[in-house]
Amino acid sequence: MAQANQHGGNVLDMALASGVDEASIVDFSANINPLGMPPSLRRALAETWALAERYPDPLYRRLHARLAAHHGCPASWILAGNGATELIYDLAFLLRGKTVLLLSPGFAEYRLALEGMDCRIREYRLAEHDDFRPDPRLLAALGPGIDCLFLCTPNNPTGQLIEPDLMQAITLRCRELAITLVVDEAFMDFIPGGVSMIDSLSGLPAVFVLRSLTKFYAIPGLRLGYMVSSDGQAVARLRERRPPWTINAFAALAGEVVLDDADYQRDSRQWLQEQQAYLFTGLHALPALKVWRPAANFIFFRCLRPGLDLQGLLLRQGLLIRSCANYAGLSGEYYRVAIKDKADNRRLLDALRKVFAHG
Ligand SMILES: Cc1ncc(COP(=O)(O)O)c(C=O)c1O
Repeated sequence: MAQANQHGGNVLDMALASGVDEASIVDFSANINPLGMPPSLRRALAETWALAERYPDPLYRRLHARLAAHHGCPASWILAGNGATELIYDLAFLLRGKTVLLLSPGFAEYRLALEGMDCRIREYRLAEHDDFRPDPRLLAALGPGIDCLFLCTPNNPTGQLIEPDLMQAITLRCRELAITLVVDEAFMDFIPGGVSMIDSLSGLPAVFVLRSLTKFYAIPGLRLGYMVSSDGQAVARLRERRPPWTINAFAALAGEVVLDDADYQRDSRQWLQEQQAYLFTGLHALPALKVWRPAANFIFFRCLRPGLDLQGLLLRQGLLIRSCANYAGLSGEYYRVAIKDKADNRRLLDALRKVFAHG
């Protein structure tokens, strides 16, 4: 199931393939908050090593209660998981044998999980001339043959949000046609004032919202995500079929701590506001790139110089960016970079200028 090169963040693999020292690589390929984990969590972890000596609560009651309080919904609507990834595989189990519409380009794990459960995949291609934004044509693609639609907002890798009006129209159409709707909001915490589908779940039982805490709170190695749905029965079924203890005690603790760290949330938004503008402006000024305006903490672009292996050329300068060649609907001309701190972002811009000056 796990594939070495499917995602960004695989620094070891790229170091082994290129011969560049792993420790010297700056990773722009995984979209993780460069502020690192919240200081409140760092302190809590340092004080709770003894948690490793006990089994976590198999029902994760405190964690679910904290997440429920955060969203103002019943705890029975929530299932936490070992990253949002575990929940994608849980949902694939619910959807086994069904026909699912996926938007491309999109996050690869949906297809892998669904195909593993014998789902039939239909594809809706996002068009470059529409800036990879879904538009009302998507409503027409939602016909009687479709059992489920997966959406990701903001979308990985293109970084575009789905407009609230369109989201509402999609939700209504799905309800009319009894289509299950999965909305992946893994990057929603990065959007100031971001409108979450979680706030509209009452009365929409066939909607499942995915959230990840690994990106905004910089804990991809701890792993924590959750799903919210007002279909308490479906949530309970998934809870019951789970192997016990898939969330380690420190990840569960993280979920109880990080949502209270208002200073970290404020600092993160401040960093993103400054560095999103800085990196976007710098990339946009490079005539060799076509850059899409980001909504979240990563930037998607196309290299207009044919045949240039930007990932390989930047790796020689110690910078790893995400090639989007393995996304359905994209090719080797497309890349995605995480927005990092000012020094790293400047290094990326300098490195790109150097590549284009020589290329
Ligand atoms: C759109 C999207 N959804 C879900 C995930 C999974 O995140 P997690 O680290 O919580 O498993 C990712 C990870 O990159 C992602 O990009």
